[in-house]
Amino acid sequence: MADSKKWVLMATAQTPTNIAVIKYWGKRDETLILPVNDSISVTLDPSHLCTTTTVAVSPGFEQDRMWLNGKEISLSGGRFQSCLREIRSRACDVEDKEKGIKIEKKDWEKLHVHIASYNNFPTAAGLASSAAGFACLVFSLAKLMNLKENPSQLSAIARQGSGSACRSLFGGFVKWIMGKDENGSDSLAVQLVEEEHWNELVIIIAVVSARQKETSSTSGMRESVETSLLLQHRAKEIVPKRIVKMEEAIKNRDFSSFAQLTCADSNQFHAVCLDTSPPIFYMNDTSHRIISYVEKWNRSEGSPQVAYTFDAGPNAVLIARDRQVAAQLLRRLLFFFPPNSDTDLNSYVLGDKSILHDAG
Ligand code: ADP
Ligand code: DP6
Ligand code: CO
Repeated sequence: MADSKKWVLMATAQTPTNIAVIKYWGKRDETLILPVNDSISVTLDPSHLCTTTTVAVSPGFEQDRMWLNGKEISLSGGRFQSCLREIRSRACDVEDKEKGIKIEKKDWEKLHVHIASYNNFPTAAGLASSAAGFACLVFSLAKLMNLKENPSQLSAIARQGSGSACRSLFGGFVKWIMGKDENGSDSLAVQLVEEEHWNELVIIIAVVSARQKETSSTSGMRESVETSLLLQHRAKEIVPKRIVKMEEAIKNRDFSSFAQLTCADSNQFHAVCLDTSPPIFYMNDTSHRIISYVEKWNRSEGSPQVAYTFDAGPNAVLIARDRQVAAQLLRRLLFFFPPNSDTDLNSYVLGDKSILHDAG
């Protein structure tokens, strides 16, 4: 290691968020973050909803520190500590000849890191900030410390920060395999298909409320595991069959089946929240009106044109079968749910490479 306390080595990464179409809701192990069922998600376009994280190491740093959206946060929580520990234990030699820096494997245990992370979308509002956030944290640290692990192996580390984060290490459609091992070694994410496989799909996110939710995903699912019988039935009987069907629908680009499964799974997840004691309400009146509107539209067309899904928050993720439907959907949303009106709907984000409309 160079002796000067002056050098700083940095790495930056950008990671998109992902939205589950078959939801993860419930853990069988709280510390290792092992889920009660498999889940499947679609990773969003990184140019819209993403986290950017810069990590730095210097012999001058006296402790690990982190800033989230410009404010310092504590790293003392078990999840940050798990990620840092797992990454440090896999760190390799790093050499920057230009700067004359050489860090050996054994040095990483003594060196401290500073982490600055920024979400370009609402944090803790049900748009999966914990997914993009922890995936980006793990990816940027892995880059800095020259880890040799592949994305699936890194996903098992990101999982220990936030379950949904393991799916953000891949683009396209991704499956989080729940695994059987009680030490969590086989609970990781795999890519089902690349982003280009189903290029026609357009994702529109209707930001119903950017406010921080009252019940975090972590405590919400803990309460559901403790009190909801529907959750047990869902995990054992419903999700395993849905996973098979969803993989088939994605492989065949079968939008009817995809939309039917996506909407049903979102509705069942929110039914589990209602079945929790005390009940958890993540959706609001505007969310319900969007569901009714899409259902009516799909019925009038005779086959699904748009799928909806809501995470642990009121914001709608709408998946249109193609660009033409997406344009129509956006026009209709703007007409029926005008931004900044009493609907509380304040902006739209198109999860597509070329169009972005933000009315907020
Ligand atoms: P969300 O629906 O946004 O994922 P959660 O309740 O699951 O909400 O998680 C929110 C928490 O995730 C935040 O309070 C914070 O601890 C963590 N988080 C969010 N963004 C980041 C980030 N960029 N880096 C690290 N952790 C983050
Ligand atoms: C509704 O991954 O945020 O978005 O593992 O406790 O951090 P922790 O929870 P988190 O839960 C996500 C729940 C969900 C569904 C999903 O993303 O699969
Ligand atoms: Co989350």
